[in-house]
This record gives sequence, C-alpha cells and structure tokens, in this order.
Amino acid sequence: MKLLKHGLLPIVATLMASPALAQAPASVTVTVDTGKPGAKIEPAVYGQFAEHLGRGIYEGLWVGTDSKIPNTNGYRNDVLAALRHLKVPVVRWPGGCFADEYDWRDGIGPSAKRPVRINRHWGGVTEDNAFGTHEFMNYSEMLGTDAYVAGNMGSMSPRDMSQWMEYMTAEKGSLAEERKKNGREKPWAVKYFGVGNETWGCGGSMRPEYSADLHRRYQEFVNPPAGKKLIKVASGSNGSDYNFTDVMMREAGSKMNALSVHYYTLPTGKWDKKGAATGFSEDEWASTLGRATFMDELITKHEAMMDKHDPEKKVALYVDEWGTWYDQESGSTPGFLYQQNSLRDAEVAALTLNIFHRHTDRVKMANIAQMINVLQAMILTDKGRMLLTPTYHVFDMYVPFQGATPYAADVKGPTYEKAGFKVPMVDVSAARGADGKLYLSLTNTDPNKAARVTTNLSGNARGRILTGPAIDTHNTFEQPNTIQPAVYSAHSSGGKLTFDLPAKSIVVVAVE
Ligand code: AHR
Repeated sequence: MKLLKHGLLPIVATLMASPALAQAPASVTVTVDTGKPGAKIEPAVYGQFAEHLGRGIYEGLWVGTDSKIPNTNGYRNDVLAALRHLKVPVVRWPGGCFADEYDWRDGIGPSAKRPVRINRHWGGVTEDNAFGTHEFMNYSEMLGTDAYVAGNMGSMSPRDMSQWMEYMTAEKGSLAEERKKNGREKPWAVKYFGVGNETWGCGGSMRPEYSADLHRRYQEFVNPPAGKKLIKVASGSNGSDYNFTDVMMREAGSKMNALSVHYYTLPTGKWDKKGAATGFSEDEWASTLGRATFMDELITKHEAMMDKHDPEKKVALYVDEWGTWYDQESGSTPGFLYQQNSLRDAEVAALTLNIFHRHTDRVKMANIAQMINVLQAMILTDKGRMLLTPTYHVFDMYVPFQGATPYAADVKGPTYEKAGFKVPMVDVSAARGADGKLYLSLTNTDPNKAARVTTNLSGNARGRILTGPAIDTHNTFEQPNTIQPAVYSAHSSGGKLTFDLPAKSIVVVAVE
C-alpha cells in the first residue's frame, strides 16, 4: 500500500478494514465552475489569536531565556518552527478579555521591573508581564506575520490607546525615544488595531449605541505616523446579534475599516455543559458540525446588515474569534481553557474555512481561537513536549488556499443527518492558487459512510488526506503522530477525476 507517509499505516489499514468502507459508498457529483471566480481568499482568514490566557503565551510561545526548553531569545524553537510552516498571516494579541484590562505600560522596560498583575478573567493567576509589546512585536517579525494589536477600550483612556500606537510606530518624539531605550530602534509595523474587544461583554457590557459612540471617539486618537496605513477594527457582535452589527454600521460605519464578530461552536450549545473534547457520542459529532456550519448563516445575515449601510463593501467583516469550546479537561487548571483536539476539530476547521472561502467579498480576516494550548489550538505543549493537533494539519493542508481565487463548486449528494442536525455529506472548496494550480478540498462529514465523488475535472489530482479510525482520534504527548496527513490521489473514470473519500475524512489536492 503506497498511501504511507509519516507512518500512517495503522490508521489507513484500520480504515480499509472498517465496516464503513464495506458498504457501498454514497454517490456525489461536484461541478467546479472555473468561469466564475470570486474575490481573492485573503491570507488573513487563516489568522490566529494568541491571548494571555492559560498556557497560550507562557509555555506556549514564550519560555524565557533561562528555560531548559530550547529557545531563541525566550521563544520556544519547536513552536516557532511549526508555526512558520503554516505561513501564519496575522496574529491577534493580547486578547480577548485580557485586552480589556491590559495596560500596555505594564509590559515594557526591564522585565524584572514590570509589575505583577492578576489575570482576572483567566484563572485569577498572576501575570508578570514578561511577555509584552516588544516580545510580541519582535515575535511577529520572527514569524513573518502581520501584527493585529487589540487595544483596551473597556478600562483605559483614548490617550493610552493613542500613546501605545505612538510608542510602537513613531520615528521620533519621547515615546519613540523610550522605545529605543528599551531596545528597539526602528518602529514596528502595526497593520491592524482593534479598537476594543467584546464591548457587549467583558469589554464593557455596552449597548451597541454606546459602543458605536465610544468607537467613534477612541478611533479618532489611534493613528499611525503620517504616510503609514492602519486598519482600524471595531468591536462587533456576539454571534447572531445582528442588531449589534446594524447599529455599529449605522452609527460608526464611516469610522472603521472592519467590524468584528465572534462565534464559538459548543457541541451542546450550552455554556454550563458544553460537551467533552474527546470520548463524545456521534450525536455530539453531528451537533458540533451542525453548529459549526451555522457560521454560514451567521456571516450571511451580518453581511446583509452591512450591505444595508455599506453597499460598496468598504468595511470588511472580521471573524476574529472562532473555534470549538469544550468543557474543562479533567486535571487541567480552571480558567485555562485547555482542551484536546480531535478529528472532529479538523472537520470543524475545514468546514469553517470553506465557508470563509464563500464569503470573500466581505470576510477579509478570521482568527482561530487560539494558537497554542487554548481552545481549538494548533499546537499543544506539555512543558518541553509539543504536539501538532488535527486542526494544525488542516491549516497546513489548506496553505495553498491563502491568496487563492475561489470558484463556485456545485455539490449534488446526500446530507449527513443525526440528532436533529443536518450538514452536507460532502463539502467542497475549489480555488486557483497563487501558483496557478487548481486546488480542491473535500470533506466527508459522515462518520460511517464513504463517498465516491465524481467531478467535472480532468487531469491528475494529488495531495493529502486526514482521517482516523474514531470520531475523536487525536494525538497525545505519548503518541503525537496518531493522526496526521497521508498522501492521497484521485483516480480517473471516463476521463473525469473521481475521489474516494473514506468516512470522516478531509482531502486537499492540487489538480494538474
Ligand atoms: O477566546 C477566549 C475568550 O472568548 C476571549 O478572551 C473573549 O474575547 C471571548 O469571549
């Protein structure tokens, strides 16, 4: 069997022997219309979110120069290399709710002199501010990613926001001198600035009318040096609160470049009992995928509100927090939001990225929550050990979609239905990559049934497949490579490319 790569034989062998493949596969047809290109898939929809929360920053990104964990200037080497491989286009920092209480001045200057604060939102632990503006901005440069800095509109003044911006970006003046004294001569490039976060909640419990007025006021004082551009992002709605978007656009639409929305997928839809990250039932597989694909309706309805006030689509929609959110893992620290990540998360990632590919005229950025050790993470660490999650592997497989031109793909086939939730059995995204090749992603959401997908495409299609024997297949520190991509090829039938998709699988190929 030639499917092997990275030692994936056990999974593939299990799949071939499983009853799922013994049944006749479902028949699906896909017609890709290369005559109808959409707006470019902004690389920034592959953005990430890194908050001072749990072990996301401390241990995840940053271990400090005295650590035994191999590091460069305090940044752990293994994580940096893994993230570089993903070509992370943008990172949002320092929160989240943390940003709503953050004083940027706490995180500059000699680290021994930085104050120790309480991280009130996330576990009530102490925050020694070892990772601050210099550490984040320098990391962005090392990673080759754009910086998206989230400012504190909830508990600080417009003057603080304005001075933070000046400290980071000015060539001259007292704040630039202070930055130089702290070790950074050249200004940094700050591409995006978030004017507040979740103003409806931890960012100030505001009504949209007040939030809009406050946005108008604060954004006035956040400015880059003359001749430089800054994308100002207004804090937007909590999930399906379409009225919030309506009011923000009506009252402050002319004072922003982008408006955010946050949406998390909880298997049960209930905050008090969300559902487990592993060991869940097929009902929760279905409810999770069903709730994740609600993202499409959510974006469509927010877009309609935005279109009302901004038909020329000058203001972008940024889904700057999204991902799965499960119950606290037993043995993990309360408030740290550490959770395992399984094949189900990989499917959520693929389905969600496909949705972003269908809304490229308005959705120009998205940030998965969060990068390391928190919620739907790319990477998990346990002190010196690191593993790549199934979500990481999807982001890796999808790299060619960054900057690609999407095409409409018409899919005719059955739905996967369970526990009152219904999703297409096979979901597809097609796009012309920056390298000129046609890329196709296909996700089989049915955990029990294979699909045979016939397309209108011809040529060769080679790429990778991600799947596993169980709906919660995941990697552990003891067995970090249980689930990882394997090589995959389509075959030709009657001159047309045909894809055999095992149950619960994700395939990405280049068609040549
Ligand atoms: O990502 C975790 C938290 O979820 C963020 O801090 C907050 O903005 C959101 O409610």
